[in-house]
Amino acid sequence: MPLPTKMTAVGISKTGNSPDVIEEFQFPVPTPGPNQILIKVEWAGVNWSDAQKRRGVWPLALPPFPFALGVECAGTIVSVPTDDEVLKDEEYKVRSLNIGSRVVSFGMAFPNGPMSEYFVTTWDTVYPLPDEISGRTAIATLTPGCTALPLATEAYNVQAGDYVLVHTVAGSVGLFFAQLNKSRGGIVIGTTSTPEKAAIAKANGADHVIIYKTENVAQRVLEITGGLGVHAIFDGVGKDTFQTNLACIRTKGTIVWLGFASGLVEPFAPHITAMKAAKYVFASAAAYFADRKAGREYVAEVFRLVTNGVFKPVVHKEYPLSAEGVREAERELWEGKTAGKCLVKVAAE
Ligand SMILES: NC(=O)c1ccc[n+]([C@@H]2O[C@H](COP(=O)([O-])OP(=O)(O)OC[C@H]3O[C@@H](n4cnc5c(N)ncnc54)[C@H](OP(=O)(O)O)[C@@H]3O)[C@@H](O)[C@H]2O)c1
Repeated sequence: MPLPTKMTAVGISKTGNSPDVIEEFQFPVPTPGPNQILIKVEWAGVNWSDAQKRRGVWPLALPPFPFALGVECAGTIVSVPTDDEVLKDEEYKVRSLNIGSRVVSFGMAFPNGPMSEYFVTTWDTVYPLPDEISGRTAIATLTPGCTALPLATEAYNVQAGDYVLVHTVAGSVGLFFAQLNKSRGGIVIGTTSTPEKAAIAKANGADHVIIYKTENVAQRVLEITGGLGVHAIFDGVGKDTFQTNLACIRTKGTIVWLGFASGLVEPFAPHITAMKAAKYVFASAAAYFADRKAGREYVAEVFRLVTNGVFKPVVHKEYPLSAEGVREAERELWEGKTAGKCLVKVAAE
């Protein structure tokens, strides 16, 4: 079937605190370059980073305006690369990316995001989607799974018996950290803002949940860990949890920053952790996908963990591909009203 010439996409042409700056565009359907794949999108996800880009607090360069938001999508391939170098590439061949293949794409720095009816991207951000995983499940899983798995393996390798502190534990990424760390025999301590979110976190593997608005997090963590603190912290909050983390980490523990929901961490003197010999890692999932083979293996492992029941995707809500749909999702996300993943339904699977 011939492709349309125009497509709906949702994004921004300027930054702004209010989600009202989110617009619906009619962009031309992109013409893929020789090393690119064009995907007909069925599902996209809404991410904290989208809201940070829209608000102008994203610390890396933004693409030129206007651009579509988004970090991940699931859909069907409508055109494949033509570049000989790509066609000969062993990593390309092993992915079996053909016209009609069901696929996902995932990348933290897309120039034009996948919140659109068609999405063009270089082939190495495209991964096969197993038959048994629906596109909806894939997008409820992809970013949180591809963040939690490498960070809880390479930034700090969670072992049975480890005490692990997960901030924003009821968020889309937080729930996956809880599920994964629990499956490895870790003792998961989470923080969140409300008892309702605490109940969701407990149903997803958190052994202890601290309501940080009303409880003293450091005091509770020390009580739970017999005064020793936790082996590892996975922290998407940043600025507001910095001091608490110093009190909660045990000697020789590891603090993994994965985001800055409350703002960037202020500069600090490294010697402040000297008496604990604690380590810090600020880890973007993207770093673990720079190696193409490793990235493909992580995506495949994330889907295997869904199939064998370790990852149980939690969907907060589905929104339509429209300015109002994405505005509502970002409003709820930014106001802390979500638990689990916000999905954008673009087309029928
Ligand atoms: N490193 C990576 O590659 C990577 C990948 C994906 C996401 N992330 C990061 O992981 C974090 C979570 O992302 P997500 O998409 O899963 O979002 P999310 O956790 O589903 O939603 C964000 C949550 O952050 C909490 N929050 C918001 N403002 C806060 C504040 N000022 N202080 C403390 N908590 C606040 C709220 O949870 P409570 O109600 O529990 O406070 C809110 O629900 C973000 O920082 C994001 O940038 C990093």
